[in-house]
Amino acid sequence: LSGPWLDARGRPLRDLRISVTDRCNFRCSYCMPKEVFDKDYQFLPHRDLLSFEEITRLAGVFAGLGVQKLRLTGGEPLLRRNIEALIAQLAELRTPDDQPLDLTLTTNGSLLARKAQALKDAGLKRVTVSLDALDDAVFRRMNDVDFPVAEVLHGIETAQSVGLAPIKVNMVVKRGTNDHQILPMARHFRGTGVVLRFIEYMDVGMSNGWRMDEVLPSAQVLARLREHMDLVPLAPTTEGETATRWGYADGSGEIGLISSVTQAFCGDCNRARLSTEGRLYTCLFASDGHDLRALLRGQGDLPARSDAEIAGALGTLWQRRADRYSELRASLPPSEAGGARRVEMHYIGG
Ligand code: GTP
Ligand code: 5AD
Ligand code: SF4
Ligand code: SF4
Repeated sequence: LSGPWLDARGRPLRDLRISVTDRCNFRCSYCMPKEVFDKDYQFLPHRDLLSFEEITRLAGVFAGLGVQKLRLTGGEPLLRRNIEALIAQLAELRTPDDQPLDLTLTTNGSLLARKAQALKDAGLKRVTVSLDALDDAVFRRMNDVDFPVAEVLHGIETAQSVGLAPIKVNMVVKRGTNDHQILPMARHFRGTGVVLRFIEYMDVGMSNGWRMDEVLPSAQVLARLREHMDLVPLAPTTEGETATRWGYADGSGEIGLISSVTQAFCGDCNRARLSTEGRLYTCLFASDGHDLRALLRGQGDLPARSDAEIAGALGTLWQRRADRYSELRASLPPSEAGGARRVEMHYIGG
């Protein structure tokens, strides 16, 4: 078997997002609402998690199939003990033409100031930090914990100073909750080298009580920004990019708009997601994953498989992939759009 692997819609496999823990120290209402993820919520026991060796082995197989970017997510990935050791292992991987992979991580920034240097030393290239507001009260309304914005900003600055660049900041916009922070956020990060991206609030998972009227379409985000700032469109940097890029006309940086609700980008979606316990999801909105841990460890009468066997299984799986949930959502009546069973975001990561 040999690549390039194209799915049923002609899309290659380029991006593997690996969730390393289902736990998080924040309770963002759009991801892990407190009412659902309370003290009685059962997170995965340690034995169910993929080990660092298992993750690295799978990532190596994926690299052989054409994956060029690895993103560690969670939950909050910096809560996984000794994550630096995993990063060091992943940094050793190479593509078939002997290039290192783009190795990055999405974090809420709460532990970033403390960990940035160790992450850099281990071989991490860059980070993306989730930050939904500059104002402490609004920040709290989004993530339901008492954590100072200043500490996240300190984390971002520390990451920048150790060379984890370019840094991206993800802001999920919820109309009526944090949309008045759009302009302050843009002003704050303009000229710092940090790329701020505005994300449309999505109907991921089953527990966030998503409503279309809380989505602020990216077109409106852009219109609001353009009332105060001169922005020009920028060309995409890579195929399958989630964000549409805009640059400040005076060269003081760029922003991105991630519009999965109003302008779906399934057409060239090249992303696969590996859950904390080793299930592979071919779409953020998939209802079920494929159990790769069973292939790694063996299960019941089934023996553990070799790398070549796993590669063959993954190739077949990818070739059958036809997911395009965000494109279909637009054509569903609002009453049905939220109906299907969907995997939770904290479990497969962003
Ligand atoms: P880089 O630009 O390489 O840093 O990566 P990226 O654009 O994939 O960014 P990131 O992983 O930070 O994703 C940003 C956000 O976009 C995520 O948190 C999700 O909210 C959203 N997103 C990412 N991938 C998908 C996807 O495949 N489908 C949908 N619907 N949303 C996505
Ligand atoms: N809609 C949009 N983005 C989300 N994220 C989590 N839940 C949602 C949602 N419902 C994003 C956050 C964070 C990343 C981990 O996933 O912005 O950056
Ligand atoms: Fe935690 Fe990120 Fe989910 Fe917020 S969005 S609860 S920080 S995993
Ligand atoms: Fe890819 Fe699914 Fe997101 Fe569409 S909805 S861009 S297919 S992950």
